[in-house]
Amino acid sequence: MPNLTIQRVGHACGARVTGVDLSRPVPADVLEVLRKAWLEHLVLVFPEQKLDPDSLVAFTRHFGELDDFSSQPFNRHPDNKEVFLLSNKKKDGKVFPTYNAGQNWHTDLSYTTRPAKHTAVYCQEKPSVGGDTMFANMYLAYETLSPKMRAFLDSLEAVHDISLVAGLDQRGPEVANEFRRLNPPVVHPAVRLHPESGRKALYVNERVRNFLGLSEEESRPIVKFLCEHSVQPRFVYRHYWSLGDLVMWDNRCLVHLAVGDYDPAEIRHMIRTSGMGDYYGRYLDPEKAVAQMKTAPEGAAKVDRKAVSALHD
Ligand code: SIN
Repeated sequence: MPNLTIQRVGHACGARVTGVDLSRPVPADVLEVLRKAWLEHLVLVFPEQKLDPDSLVAFTRHFGELDDFSSQPFNRHPDNKEVFLLSNKKKDGKVFPTYNAGQNWHTDLSYTTRPAKHTAVYCQEKPSVGGDTMFANMYLAYETLSPKMRAFLDSLEAVHDISLVAGLDQRGPEVANEFRRLNPPVVHPAVRLHPESGRKALYVNERVRNFLGLSEEESRPIVKFLCEHSVQPRFVYRHYWSLGDLVMWDNRCLVHLAVGDYDPAEIRHMIRTSGMGDYYGRYLDPEKAVAQMKTAPEGAAKVDRKAVSALHD
């Protein structure tokens, strides 16, 4: 690995990796270094890469099984179902439905029972200015809360609702309703133990409606406080995109925001993969939760059985 360099680019998270060509097979020893760096820095930036959908899939698959985006089939890349388009280009005369995706602080697919492990975004076209992506370190967000607040949050579960995705309704009633039909509200612990680092991270973001056992009225100020607390500048890295950047991040301990501060007449076109995370939540609706428990694979059923019986206590 004579040319590989990994340099921090942010205080809270983020490192820039050079000296590796991701369009070619990456040797096992380099992958090992990259995996460790990713767990340490949470966001890795690989500048000046020349990737297409297939090479993006080939590289990011090293970090785990990829999502085939069956929960959002209309946003897939036409040539590869494991690639998702983040684009404001026109398709069939209409602007692409993800033109405004990710414009509130969130972690990918937290409104599902299997939120994304990692996300990798490759920049193919970008506006002349703006269109950045910001990341906030949720380990730090959790660790800097008072012990009493941490203990309170440790006991809470949060309802994640796709209706709170910013700009969902602007994508048109057909898209918004299909999103809601495919993704009913789910429940996740408010604090998540990262399976690889063993650290706790806050798992509350702007797509949380309320905490179980607390009303929406009671939950709202707590959600607001946590969202504001977690995205303070001291916890944030802001990525200014260049063409050819691949940025890969860990959704289990970060939230991110696509900053909508660019001229919509200019093209922003990214291709993305998402790693399938652990089965991690259950449907809010008890009937759906029970059905999920019956059909879920063994690893998931163990988690869900406990959660579902708690729900009926
Ligand atoms: C997202 O995955 O939320 C979108 C990120 C971006 O387009 O910057």
